[in-house]
Order: sequence, then C-alpha cells, then structure tokens
Amino acid sequence: MKRRAAILISGRGSNMESLLRAARHPDYPVEIVLVLSNRPEAAGLATAAAAGIPALAIDHRPFKGDRGAHEATINAALTTARVEFVCLAGYMRLLTPVLVEAWAGRMLNIHPSLLPAFPGLHTHERALAAGVKIHGCTVHLVTQGMDEGPIVAQAAVPVLPGDTAESLGARVLVREHAIYPAALAALALGVVALSPGAEAALLNPLPLPATLP
Ligand code: GRF
Repeated sequence: MKRRAAILISGRGSNMESLLRAARHPDYPVEIVLVLSNRPEAAGLATAAAAGIPALAIDHRPFKGDRGAHEATINAALTTARVEFVCLAGYMRLLTPVLVEAWAGRMLNIHPSLLPAFPGLHTHERALAAGVKIHGCTVHLVTQGMDEGPIVAQAAVPVLPGDTAESLGARVLVREHAIYPAALAALALGVVALSPGAEAALLNPLPLPATLP
C-alpha cells in the first residue's frame, strides 16, 4: 500500500509538480493526498487542483503573527487527511516546534544549495558572489535550525562562465526535480537511517532512478 504524503507550498510549485508526476507512477511508493499553501494565491494550488489533488489554503495572515496557532491548524488538516510524510516545497515560513516536533523524521525540505553552504535565501546570487565552481541542491529532514537537518540527498551542478543567478538557478532546479521524488521514496520505504550523530544515511542506494517518467 502506498504511503500518504502532503506537500506544503507558498508559490509556483514546480517541485510539487515533480512529486505529483513521480507519484502518478504505479511503482512509486507514495501518494500525494493533500497540497497545502499558506498563500491562497500560490500558483501551485491551482496546478494541484487541476491535477485532481485536494488543494487547501490556510492563510497565515488572519493568525496575526501567532505562528503556533497557524501551524496547529495545518497539523489538523494533515491529521484529517491521514498524512504520514510532509514535503516542504518552496514553503516560505519559518517553522515552530508545533510542526517540527509533530513531524520529526517525517518532514523533508528542499533547498537550492549544497548545504551546509548557503542556508537561507538568495542562494544562487551568493554562490556566484562566493565564486564556487560547484553548486547544487539538497533534500534534508526538517529540524528546528533553518536548513540544518540531516541531509538525505544532494545533487551538484557546475557553475559555468557567464552564469547569472537565473541560469544557475534553472540548472539547479532541474536537479531539484530529480532528487526530491527519490528522497521522498527513500524516506517512505524506510531506507533512510539516522545515526546517533543525527546525520542521515541511505541504507540502500536511492530506490528509484533519478529521472522518473
Ligand atoms: C526551490 O528552489 C526550492 O529549492 C526552494 O524554493 C524553490 C521553490 O520552487 N526551497 P518551486 O515552488 O518548487 O518551483
């Protein structure tokens, strides 16, 4: 039986689309049962709804800064949908312990850099400014520290002469779309192990090819 996952977004949702695409494959071990956004206007919500996936906005603004109450409402929606795993995919809110502790070991995030380099925002601009020759993306388990959780999967791309943040970001995004479905599958299949030092290790190679139909 497929495991049940939700995706949290705030915007365009291209990583969400890559997860939905992977989940359509009969052999993929996860079904996406809910897409949730803190922004009702997020383009990804309409994309998910058009794909027949329950899509829900829980706007953070009426909560007037009470992040815990907003997250408790999200948690209630996740529980109602009998979600087992949560994927943050461009979800642009810092999380409180309400979500982080409820989903410890079962919540993934994708970040557009090779962590621990360049946590936070504007990663492509900062990578170019730093002059790195290799850049990339990371899928990690979510812990309270921003972009600090155990790394599950990474992919690297070259930084090419003449790159702009846009061209570099586009190259990274292609790899994001490949590693996120693979990392979610690995977590759902139970082949991601956490060592006492809290680094994540794959017990087996990623169970799926990097590119899915
Ligand atoms: C991606 O670059 C992701 O790594 C970051 O936010 C961006 C979201 O893009 N966390 P999209 O909404 O998935 O297209």
